[in-house]
Amino acid sequence: MTSLAGKAVLLIIGGGIAAYKTHELVRLLKTRGARVRVIMTRAAEEFVTPLSLASLSGEKVYTALFSLTDEVEMGHIQLSRAADLLVVAPATADLMAKMAHGLADDLASTALLATDKPVLIAPAMNVRMWQHPATQHNVEILRRHGIALVGPTDGEMACGEFGPGRMAEPGDILGAIVTMLTPKARPLAGRRVIITAGPTREPIDPVRFISNHSSGKQGYAIAEAAAELGAETVLISGPVSLPAPSGVRVVNVETAREMLTACQDEMPADIAIFTAAVADWRVASEAAEKLKKTEAGPPNLALAENPDILATIAHSGMRPSLVVGFAAETEKVTEHATQKLKRKGCDIIVANDVSEAGGVFGSDRNTVHLVTSTGIESWPEMSKQDVGRKLMERLTELLTPQQKAME
Ligand code: CTP
Repeated sequence: MTSLAGKAVLLIIGGGIAAYKTHELVRLLKTRGARVRVIMTRAAEEFVTPLSLASLSGEKVYTALFSLTDEVEMGHIQLSRAADLLVVAPATADLMAKMAHGLADDLASTALLATDKPVLIAPAMNVRMWQHPATQHNVEILRRHGIALVGPTDGEMACGEFGPGRMAEPGDILGAIVTMLTPKARPLAGRRVIITAGPTREPIDPVRFISNHSSGKQGYAIAEAAAELGAETVLISGPVSLPAPSGVRVVNVETAREMLTACQDEMPADIAIFTAAVADWRVASEAAEKLKKTEAGPPNLALAENPDILATIAHSGMRPSLVVGFAAETEKVTEHATQKLKRKGCDIIVANDVSEAGGVFGSDRNTVHLVTSTGIESWPEMSKQDVGRKLMERLTELLTPQQKAME
């Protein structure tokens, strides 16, 4: 049983019939040694009493925003600052809408807007309210804001209907709390991971360039996963419109040659992952001035081959222990990837289908095949985030025994 001793949870109770289950949740949290402070919305007081929650938590229960004595003793900012985690249970459709749109008209919504701590919500509402596009849109917004959800589950509801909308059981909410409050394993602590991402941009003249449609999403997701596992992570990125993932150092480059130099500068590394869609060619001599239309017709652009960044690093004296390439293919995906594995000298090729049927460019989902010298493993379609996590977990397994054998 994981102890929560020394951890403080701020429980925000919304106004729904499921509020009665928070008695059990508070009891479970106290059994694990957590400190529990409770805020109740005005509507919550219709379902459970501040007195019962004060008795169970052993703390004063906060109910209204403008109680001056409360503000003196413990202001709303202080309430969320003193917590390690905020839990909203039951999270009603109304509370979720307020959270998604930044409304703050009572103590509960103000504490939620004023916090920079992790937030877990346990939605509970009528099935039609849950399925309403407005609520589903709010769920999406909350997820984007990094808010975690537990439930809702399917089942018979207080209103007599059946379907999703029931609040998760207190034991399951506790499980989600324990996961969020337990420090994550950092098996890549002390390791260095270099990732290339996005397109490169090869200038024709000061205003024109050759490039491609790479969004960079897959590379950014891998970098985020590497940092989560504790690696010192460097993302060498072509021009994309994505925010830097947390805990990742981003080196911005434009051309293939700049990307290669940046990779060489960042060596040595334990793992190098090349997701960038590097332009194969550049204009042999970039025009110093903007090319003008002339009587002679369109210019003939002589192209020169760009360096192969992956192959250069994989064949260099500074080769990382694990080198991973990506293969964007439109046909015979695994066959071409197997050839690329040998030619480029990498340990793994992650092959994805970028034909129109595959639809990877710019999408949030990906279907990949892991090609190694010993075989091919096909993964089901999943989000680029999940591909990133799964790939980094696999690379961690491959790296660790190698390192152990060498030590
Ligand atoms: N790559 C690279 N430098 C290049 C070209 C590609 O580092 N100049 C890397 C990509 O980041 C990717 C892998 O090589 O990890 C495969 O790239 P891809 O463009 O699919 O293969 P190509 O080598 O261009 O081969 P082909 O055009 O035959 O598909």
